[in-house]
Amino acid sequence: MSTLFDSYKLKDITLRNRVAVPPMCQYSAIDGVANDWHFAHYAELARGGAGLIVVEATGVSPDGRITPGCTGIWNDEQVQAHAKIVKLIKDAGAVPGLQIAHAGMKASANKPWEGDDHLPVDHPDAWETIAPSAVAFGTDALNRVPRAMEKSDIQRVQNDFVAAAKRALDAGYEWLELHFAHGYLAQSFFSRHTNQRDDEYGGSAENRGRYLLETMRAVRKVWPENLPFTIRFGVLEFDGHDEETMMESIALTKKFKEDGLDFMSVSMGFSTPKANIPWGPAFLAPYAKRIRDEAGIPVGSAWGFDTPSLADSAVRNEELDIVFVGRAHLVNPHWAYRAALDLGIKEPEYILPNQYKFWLERYKMKDA
Ligand SMILES: Cc1cc2nc3c(=O)[nH]c(=O)nc-3n(C[C@H](O)[C@H](O)[C@H](O)COP(=O)(O)O)c2cc1C
Repeated sequence: MSTLFDSYKLKDITLRNRVAVPPMCQYSAIDGVANDWHFAHYAELARGGAGLIVVEATGVSPDGRITPGCTGIWNDEQVQAHAKIVKLIKDAGAVPGLQIAHAGMKASANKPWEGDDHLPVDHPDAWETIAPSAVAFGTDALNRVPRAMEKSDIQRVQNDFVAAAKRALDAGYEWLELHFAHGYLAQSFFSRHTNQRDDEYGGSAENRGRYLLETMRAVRKVWPENLPFTIRFGVLEFDGHDEETMMESIALTKKFKEDGLDFMSVSMGFSTPKANIPWGPAFLAPYAKRIRDEAGIPVGSAWGFDTPSLADSAVRNEELDIVFVGRAHLVNPHWAYRAALDLGIKEPEYILPNQYKFWLERYKMKDA
């Protein structure tokens, strides 16, 4: 039986424990280039003790960003900034991962704290949004109707994902996550709410999965076999069609796995505002376990695993292979150390860098 503080090996990469920080956009980049905010933020998280840090949703192209403040990875200047993030994370003993993304119908939005809504079409920072069909997400805030993608758009975005993966490798990332969740472009191809195409990319589950599978296969060819290749996927929407969607997601995940996917971060669809999500501690655990067992692939998940005992149980019960803890890391970047103390791990300071570990060992502290 594994526990939260056992190491985890996937391909040639070993995480020092199974606590992972999920991607969390900082909306603080300029022209897609990360800066001092990101350097401090990611260094702090890595120094806190987690095994894996997945860097925020990073646009494969300018129009793939959620907001003008999102990071990108389409040019060399951006790669250099990513390389600095990678070094900071590795120097602190964690594994650097990157989530690459296209935001589709949810792109061209304001920063959350500046409205969290679509920028007006005539705003100087706004851009054209694209999606499988001309269907808006449909909240008051995100109501812009995207342009339905031509086949040439599909090809272009897939090429952008391939180029982004190559750049992620150049920057030194050791774990790649394709963002196929949360109502962004890939998820909206898979979703029957937002995909109304009548060509080979729409209709049946197989057709709705085609864009995802093609993109994954294209990226697989350029991402090294020895490094973890992962997807974050919204496996259900909580829209009343959950069993049907789960079955479709499991079938697609089996295909991903056959074609070289190593790991899935299990999440939700967020492609319709009509969802009725049963928020609560660890509520995605049973769905993640189904993907793990029925598709036969290692999984992680987020959303409410921020109590050390819950996170540890999810690993012990073989629901999750690694546990993503998001917002609690914003509260306390040393969440992993705190969790190790709470779980009674022997000499918990071992998960910290020497600069911290040495002093905690020398002057034993009862509390953190
Ligand atoms: C500030 C913030 C930014 C986020 N950005 C992303 C993102 O870039 N990509 C993504 O897949 N999820 C994103 N999420 C969702 C988180 O990855 C995670 O699923 C969520 O916070 C739930 O986990 P938690 O309950 O441990 O916080 C974000 C969440 C927050 C709070």
